[in-house]
Amino acid sequence: MIRLPQSDQRLTIIGKTGSGKTWHGLWHLSRFDFSFPVIIFDLKGDENILSLYEIRGVKKFEGIKPPKKNGIYILSYNLDNFAYINQVLKNIYYTGHIFLFIDEASSMKQISSFQNILIQGRSRVIPTIQMVQRPSNVSRYAFSEAEFFQIFFISDKRDRDIIRGFTPLKEQDYQLIPSETHRSIMVDVDRGKKIIVKSIDSLDKIFNTIALKLRKKVNKI
Ligand SMILES: Nc1ncnc2c1ncn2[C@@H]1O[C@H](COP(=O)(O)OP(=O)(O)OP(=O)(O)O)[C@@H](O)[C@H]1O
Ligand SMILES: [Mg+2]
Repeated sequence: MIRLPQSDQRLTIIGKTGSGKTWHGLWHLSRFDFSFPVIIFDLKGDENILSLYEIRGVKKFEGIKPPKKNGIYILSYNLDNFAYINQVLKNIYYTGHIFLFIDEASSMKQISSFQNILIQGRSRVIPTIQMVQRPSNVSRYAFSEAEFFQIFFISDKRDRDIIRGFTPLKEQDYQLIPSETHRSIMVDVDRGKKIIVKSIDSLDKIFNTIALKLRKKVNKI
């Protein structure tokens, strides 16, 4: 049996647009116990992420300091806000105990605070789920520091080779995750295990799970 990523670990999800990265990222998020705050970095105004606002305990991230109260905080940004994002991430790095959900990690490639979080995130208790379309679009640390990967169809052989350099995947494994499916392979790097993920719960079920868990944690504050 494969383990699932634990809430102190880093997961990198890779796949072309529409493959299911955000859905699966939200599924992984729904497994967290919400014992500390979650910050979602939303570059694209993803409609599924914005739907989270319907859940009690989901708020807009404001200011530059990480929140102290449990809950989900959505930080919507664009590529002009890099200095601000860098400052927020720097504060997250120093504060620790924040769960990060980065919906388009390529936007973070040049942000130095994010590199520090990737390198020292475990000791500072900053578990991270990050999503990216191609390995070449992100910092090397997004790969070298991840304990788990979830990989969807990858068309470019060079990209497949890069991923294989960080995981126990073999070239023939990619045939198990063809294009036009939402199939993926989840890899536990430390244990060298891999498993095919064929489908996930409906998004409604994922949202219900998040709502239930948040209700318990947010009310406790
Ligand atoms: N496991 C799944 N089973 C069935 N349909 C899925 C699954 N995952 C995703 N989908 C469908 O694919 C669509 C795209 O999924 P998602 O938004 O997660 O892709 P993405 O990889 O994040 O794309 P982008 O890179 O454009 O953000 C969803 O709206 C949903 O309709
Ligand atoms: Mg997405």
